[in-house]
Amino acid sequence: KNLVVLISGRGSNLKAIINAIESRKINAKISLVLSNKKEAKGLEIAKNHGIKTKFIDPSFFSSREGYDIYIAELIKKEKPDLIVLAGYMRILSDEFIDAFEGKIVNIHPSLIPAFQGKNAQKQALEFGSLITGCSVHFVTKDLDSGPVIIQAAVPVLPEDTEETLSERILSYEHRIYPQAIKWILEGRVKVEGRKVIVKDAKY
Ligand code: GRF
Repeated sequence: KNLVVLISGRGSNLKAIINAIESRKINAKISLVLSNKKEAKGLEIAKNHGIKTKFIDPSFFSSREGYDIYIAELIKKEKPDLIVLAGYMRILSDEFIDAFEGKIVNIHPSLIPAFQGKNAQKQALEFGSLITGCSVHFVTKDLDSGPVIIQAAVPVLPEDTEETLSERILSYEHRIYPQAIKWILEGRVKVEGRKVIVKDAKY
């Protein structure tokens, strides 16, 4: 099976996925890591593991749709089984989502539908939630709202700052993202409306 991973930054989820592949927990390869940011640290991580990378500069395109159509063509050439958004900080246009219907996943650092959009960890702190977490979901045209594949609940501690909470959530992201990808690639995930059914899920 074949993955394409889209990133914009640090790439720690990408790293967790690479680790899962290299330790043979996931039977797949990453054929391309694509970034919209030249300085994304994740590009270095990918290169260090012998993975092909591309930085595509959005400023060369006059519209988001134009950019997305261009990257969709690049991605199609890889014939991916799954497109993995791992800290990809651009909203995908409807055209892109239509082109890969049901084949795009994302990780979001909250228990969706709580705290969608940017700064989810900060939103949880400001709201005073005692529990937050992270969610892996299929990408649909509604931002951070597609069918949920797996979630992890994470406590908010009284002394938490945005940094400490984000770090705690991140350690769970690194566990649930590879797990969800494994299930999907093994053909064990079925979507019925909003509901995701995983065959023989062991947590
Ligand atoms: C993570 O918090 C993820 O939930 C969010 O963006 C961040 C990406 O981090 N979508 P990294 O680039 O994987 O380290």
